[in-house]
Formats: sequence, structure tokens, C-alpha cells
Amino acid sequence: MCVVALIKLGGSIVTFKDRPLAFNAHAVEGVSRALKQVAYDDGGVPMIVVHGGGSFGHYYSVLYDMHSRPAGYSVEGISRVRCSMVDLNNRITGIMLEQGLRPYTIHPSSFISAGKVTMGSRVDELYSMSMHGLIPVTHGDVMHYGDSLYYILSGDEIMSILAERLVQNVSIALFTLAVDGVYRDMKGRELIKELRYASDASMEDVGMDVTGGMRRKVREGMRIASLGIDVWFVNGLYPERVVDVLRGRDTIGTVIRGSKG
Ligand code: IPE
Repeated sequence: MCVVALIKLGGSIVTFKDRPLAFNAHAVEGVSRALKQVAYDDGGVPMIVVHGGGSFGHYYSVLYDMHSRPAGYSVEGISRVRCSMVDLNNRITGIMLEQGLRPYTIHPSSFISAGKVTMGSRVDELYSMSMHGLIPVTHGDVMHYGDSLYYILSGDEIMSILAERLVQNVSIALFTLAVDGVYRDMKGRELIKELRYASDASMEDVGMDVTGGMRRKVREGMRIASLGIDVWFVNGLYPERVVDVLRGRDTIGTVIRGSKG
């Protein structure tokens, strides 16, 4: 049976979160090289990539006070978030291509509407493409909810949506971050090697943003693990850790072992 890895490239990896519209080309190159090693070089792990908004989408969503709750936000804000995400996506896939990967962008509005998967067959298509050497890439975005309502959809939630639809075929879900994993508390920076319950971490945040920062990542991670899929949080600034996880090896990071509730 063929299985696919779901990989989230966090906004803190693909951008510098402390500076507006600052793309981190170096980090994207590093992680792309790691993905290339496991995607094509030996045996080949099919993968679907999701990226976040970092200082592109999040920058504008904060500026225009836009949230994950559907509401009638500023049309200028909606447009700016959307354009910044398309721009960020182009930069990421451009580097992936240069590094020898074969990305194929699918915008989330082509399979998600009003917060739900409306076109399950499009999600199945992502899987099918990943079986043929392409790497489907999708991303957090501003989404139409109906009438004049819009909402911010995080890439973390897309990871759960994909995992739910493709559950029989997902081998692993990997969230790359700019920290080593989930910390028990931010002051002591004690890394949790294995996270069992949400209460394992104090859930203090490494920096909140409009779609909920670390808390949301852990929540989505729990949701995916409850489907029986192992979920890893690793520092994407150390590409060798990404390689380790995708090859099924232990590494520095936090794992939530998949278990069907
Ligand atoms: C955010 O996606 C998308 C927008 C703000 C449009 P994420 O919530 O997944 O982004 P990061 O990874 O936390 O930056």
C-alpha cells in the first residue's frame, strides 16, 4: 500500500515572523533539500506540503483585524492577505523547483468551502498526484464563507482536513517550526519528547497570531493523532531532523503517537 507524508512548513520557517513580508529563502532551501532526499533520492516518500502565512498572510490579517471566525472583513484586507499568500506560495514553490522537487500548487479554495471539504475528489487527486512524483502544495489562506463572510483558514487546520480525508493513506504528519518542538513551559524551555494529552504542555504560547499559534498546532496535532497517525513537531531550521522523521528515525522534536480513540 502506498502512503503519503503530510508536511507543514510553518510560517516561522518560510518567513521571518518578526519582520513584515520577509521571506526566508535560506530556510526554504534547506528544508527543500531535505525533502528532495526523502522524496526522490532513495526509495521515495510521496508527500503533500502545506505552508503557513508567517509574516505574509499573518501580517495583513493582523493589520486588518481578520480572524478564523467568519465575518465581514475589509475587502482590502481580504485582497491583501490573498495576494500575499499567492506571492509567498510562488516564492516557496520556485525554490522547491530549483532544488529538484516537483511542486504543484492547489489553492485550498479548490477543495474547501465554508470550512468543510466540499470536493473530496480534489483531495483524493492531491494524493494521486503525490503517487506520480509531483508534490502537491497548498497553504493557509483567506477563504470565502458565503455571502459577505470570509475567514482565515490556517495551514494547521488544512493538515487535519487532509488527514481526515486521506486517513487510510497517510503515514505521518510533520509540522516544521522554528523551535525544537513543544515545550512544557516557555521559561524553562523543557522539550516534551512525547506528548500524550493536551495537559502535558502548559500551552503557554511561543507567540500568538490570528490563527492561534502553537496552541492550534498542538490541537490539530491531537486531532490527527486520534486518527491513528503519528504526528511530529520538529525544528525545520535543522533539515536533518526533517530527514530523520520522514525516514522513520527518532530525532529531536515532539511526537504524538497515533492512537485511535
Ligand atoms: C495562516 O496560516 C494563513 C493566513 C494568515 C492567511 P497558518 O496559521 O498555518 O500560518 P503559520 O504557519 O502559523 O504562520
